[in-house]
Amino acid sequence: MSTPLRLGIAGLGTVGVGVLRILRKQAKLLQARTGREIVVTAVSARNRSKDRGVSIAGFAWEDDPVAIARRTDVDVLVELIGGSDGPAKAATEAALRAGKDVVTANKAMLAVHGQALAELAEAEGRQIRYEAAVAGGIPVIKTLTEALAGNEFTRVMGVMNGTCNYILTRMQSSGLSYDEVFEEANQLGYLEADPNLDVGGIDAGHKLALLASIAFGTRVAFDAMELEGIGRITIDDIHQAADMGYRIKLLGVSRMTGRGLEQRMSPCLVPAGSALGQLEGGTNMVVIEGDSVGQIVLRGAGAGEGPTGSAVIGDICDLARGARLSVFGQPSATLAAAKPAVSTTPAAFYLRMALQDKPGALAKVATVLGDNGISIHRMRQYDHAAALAPVLIVTHRCMRADLDRAIAAMAATGVVEGVPVALRIEEV
Ligand SMILES: NC(=O)c1ccc[n+]([C@@H]2O[C@H](COP(=O)([O-])OP(=O)(O)OC[C@H]3O[C@@H](n4cnc5c(N)ncnc54)[C@H](OP(=O)(O)O)[C@@H]3O)[C@@H](O)[C@H]2O)c1
Repeated sequence: MSTPLRLGIAGLGTVGVGVLRILRKQAKLLQARTGREIVVTAVSARNRSKDRGVSIAGFAWEDDPVAIARRTDVDVLVELIGGSDGPAKAATEAALRAGKDVVTANKAMLAVHGQALAELAEAEGRQIRYEAAVAGGIPVIKTLTEALAGNEFTRVMGVMNGTCNYILTRMQSSGLSYDEVFEEANQLGYLEADPNLDVGGIDAGHKLALLASIAFGTRVAFDAMELEGIGRITIDDIHQAADMGYRIKLLGVSRMTGRGLEQRMSPCLVPAGSALGQLEGGTNMVVIEGDSVGQIVLRGAGAGEGPTGSAVIGDICDLARGARLSVFGQPSATLAAAKPAVSTTPAAFYLRMALQDKPGALAKVATVLGDNGISIHRMRQYDHAAALAPVLIVTHRCMRADLDRAIAAMAATGVVEGVPVALRIEEV
């Protein structure tokens, strides 16, 4: 008879409670599938007396998550506190040093400290598993590291922040402004305490950095990511993109190019009929392209008690079975330093600007674009009553750097009001 796997759970919020519920509800199933009983011995959170809707009566309580990590009756630390540093990192390091494996849902910690933690885990002969950290219930890390291990990856992309996708699709369906839908999302409790983590693309950027590391064998490099949030997207952008057969998504794209690793998290136009274009509400989608498998599309809930708990439990089961895997899919010493390549892949761009309604204004803009090697594919001027005309230009494929130069030069023309919005049209 195998010995039970003993868990210490630090963090009893949305995900921690989800994990406790599944462990209780599926105890027999998990034992049958792993050949071991999985038990919780100790838990930790900030407030011991908080009603969490699940009983924690049978578990030892620790005020300090580091103490959980060091308990001799704990085999695996399940870190569900969150945050890149602080108690989550302290407990993770303490657990590894005390010879325990770690399961976590903490993308921020791994995106910032992933390499150092992977090295520590290897030095201690321990495991760190984090399926729940990327796209909630979608098993994307297992897919990349295990099922598709025979592939050279050409591109990994996805919509990995449900709140942003909710805001963008709700704007589309309701016709409400960004500010109105942002407030609605806030009321519904969809936003992080610091909303910039969501709408600024940081949370999704953390996730993409982890996937890029696994897919391209590079050290996780969140700092090198091109990051742009959805705050400048207007309802007009949504409508105009729709008129042309596109949807706007906060899309993460990573690919290895001849010049280095490209990692972008930014609002992009994708064809309305594509799988990404049809993704509604808070759902996540990850698209993986491998040289042998072709394109794989994974879709599912990116957050919430059940889906995220499900991913954590999958990792716990792996550890119960004795499965071993390097943190980023290969030994940390073999991960290459990521040489950042900023938007080296050419693309068509959607460009929206407010133009003074006077003769020659459009010609000046066209000249600036032409001077920077950018040719116009489509152009449209929308109805307007005021002195400023909303103008939409779709470029032929060009380099982002050339477009940025053209946008900077537009300020000197005296006919463009403010800074134009430029959105990449991603071929998917
Ligand atoms: N929510 C999701 O759907 C989701 C999806 C994917 C990944 N994740 C990740 O999962 C992790 C947990 O997220 P969550 O949504 O469950 O967070 P949460 O609901 O805010 O829960 C956080 C938990 O950590 C505890 N905690 C905070 N500071 C602590 C400290 N110093 N010592 C001990 N415990 C402490 C809190 O205690 P109290 O309850 O006593 O305040 C709470 O139980 C994060 O890394 C998050 O990014 C979440």
